[in-house]
Amino acid sequence: MCGIIAYKGERNASEIVVQGLKKLEYRGYDSWGVAIKNKDILLRKEVGKITDFNEELPKSSLAIAHTRWATHGGVTKENAHPHFSCNKEVVIIHNGIVDNFQELKQKLSKDHKFVSETDTEIIAHLIESYLERGYEEAIFEAVKRIEGRYAILVIFRDSNKLIAARKGSPMIVGVEDGGYFIASDIPAFLGYTNKVMYIDDNEMVVIDDGIKFFNLDSRQEVQKRLIEIDWKTEEAEKEGYEHFMIKEIMEQKETIRKAINQDENKLLFIANKINNAFGTYLVGCGTAGKVCQTGEYFFSKIAGKHINFAFASEFTNYHRFLTKGGLMLTVSQSGETADVLEAIEVAKKKEVEVISLLNVFGSSMMRQSDFSFMINAGPEKAVASTKATTSQLALLMLLAYACANKLDEGKKLLIDTASKVNDMLNPRYEEHIRKLAEKIYNSENIYIIGRGANYPMALESAIKIQEVSYIHAEGFAAGELKHGPIALISEKTPCITLVANDENKKDILSNAMEVKARGGYIIGISPENNIIFDYWIKVPDVSDASPIVNIIPVQILAYHLAVLRGLDPDKPRNLAKSVTVK
Ligand code: AGP
Ligand code: GLU
Repeated sequence: MCGIIAYKGERNASEIVVQGLKKLEYRGYDSWGVAIKNKDILLRKEVGKITDFNEELPKSSLAIAHTRWATHGGVTKENAHPHFSCNKEVVIIHNGIVDNFQELKQKLSKDHKFVSETDTEIIAHLIESYLERGYEEAIFEAVKRIEGRYAILVIFRDSNKLIAARKGSPMIVGVEDGGYFIASDIPAFLGYTNKVMYIDDNEMVVIDDGIKFFNLDSRQEVQKRLIEIDWKTEEAEKEGYEHFMIKEIMEQKETIRKAINQDENKLLFIANKINNAFGTYLVGCGTAGKVCQTGEYFFSKIAGKHINFAFASEFTNYHRFLTKGGLMLTVSQSGETADVLEAIEVAKKKEVEVISLLNVFGSSMMRQSDFSFMINAGPEKAVASTKATTSQLALLMLLAYACANKLDEGKKLLIDTASKVNDMLNPRYEEHIRKLAEKIYNSENIYIIGRGANYPMALESAIKIQEVSYIHAEGFAAGELKHGPIALISEKTPCITLVANDENKKDILSNAMEVKARGGYIIGISPENNIIFDYWIKVPDVSDASPIVNIIPVQILAYHLAVLRGLDPDKPRNLAKSVTVK
């Protein structure tokens, strides 16, 4: 979680890191802090969001900064990063968790005094305890003793070096004439440069007069290439929209088309692997997990293939069924989700090939997968996933068509879907959904039902509503209602019904009728109106691609529910954009 940024160079580092932090705030935002190196090191830490911070900090050529998503220790100024070592020689910021922090703290507490409750502070003391061996050696020695996933940035009182090390958590270097940036995500420095160098797992970067990379185990220097990325700065900004979430929802006019624009030979090559695999698992978390679950239906219906779905955090309970010759298909927007990375590690041990569907180029998952597809949706900054979701759905569906040897048919359907989404996403449509939000934003509960591929979309609808509006929302397989959940329906309970023009249509409408008979308020998301619906949101008829079009109105609804409840949809409480802790 969290965002980290550092700058060393000719520009004013303190300003760059504060601005960069504002761009990274979507990653974690309970507190923040900056360390500015001049003769001494100045720390500035605050609890809350950095958005409103406009003070001028002392100019400098070297600074590091952090937004925190607390894992160890409450949300306090003391626990906010950066953290000093005892004699203030070492200053550190950290993303991740030190798994063995209790053991290390116990060992160090004989000679070191801790001022925070964080696991992070231990790393500063640990580095300090090896400092007499030199800066690089001290970090090599310290990280050797740390268990867990981390990205750390370190500066020193008596040196102008900036040192970073990573294992598992994201971090990337930005390069321009006269300066270097290190950040957890590209948008933090995209306004200055689009030239990057990837820091791989188990590597350390030392920026002094120039830049050097080292392997943390062998301590040998590693050579790196400079890569130009093609994200545009404006893609990462709000472009006049009030929030990133609504901007990203509207970008679905374009993103579905971009997702299916893939190399056909590669699609067929991977389809062949899926067809011949000895068992395939679709693995993801949260929304990406719901996409995987929908994928199960796509592969079953389109290609007649049984593919298993597992949440990455549960994958360790399934891995016994994977053997050599098996496949793992992971879906992740960030490519940095710790649970998925761990599932990949488990799969690799079983000699299972890993194919990933990702949005962030150069992410850890991309580098750990045997093959990867980019959905090319551009930066997704709102915590709630929207455009990445429909792009992932489209690409998975295309893969299912490729497995069925019907790639052209799949492409045609998805191009048609993309163009219908383009027509659908207009201001009138948004206003129609906002009016619905006005009617239901005070509801205590919202239920969503679906069948077939729209069942996982009912689950995803619930995530969307929960995470941004904090309304209790739950999705159900419509047929399961009568086995228990229907007891929850009382007068005027909103029940969103996801309808597709498919073999489930008759049954889902009957289920909606059962809810209505018990006083429920039926919101139909469907290509056609029906007498059962109290409120109808029209979606285009796109046959098997219905999950793609059905989830979009719920995204818009969730957004407006949040706004009407006075919440910031881009930064829901307790959540972070990329979940890089287990
Ligand atoms: C989406 O709205 C959620 N914020 C969350 O469930 C997310 O999809 C999940 O954490 C997985 O992230 P990833 O796609 O980056 O792996
Ligand atoms: N574990 C550290 C803490 O709680 C870092 C958390 C983060 O990644 O923001 O402070």
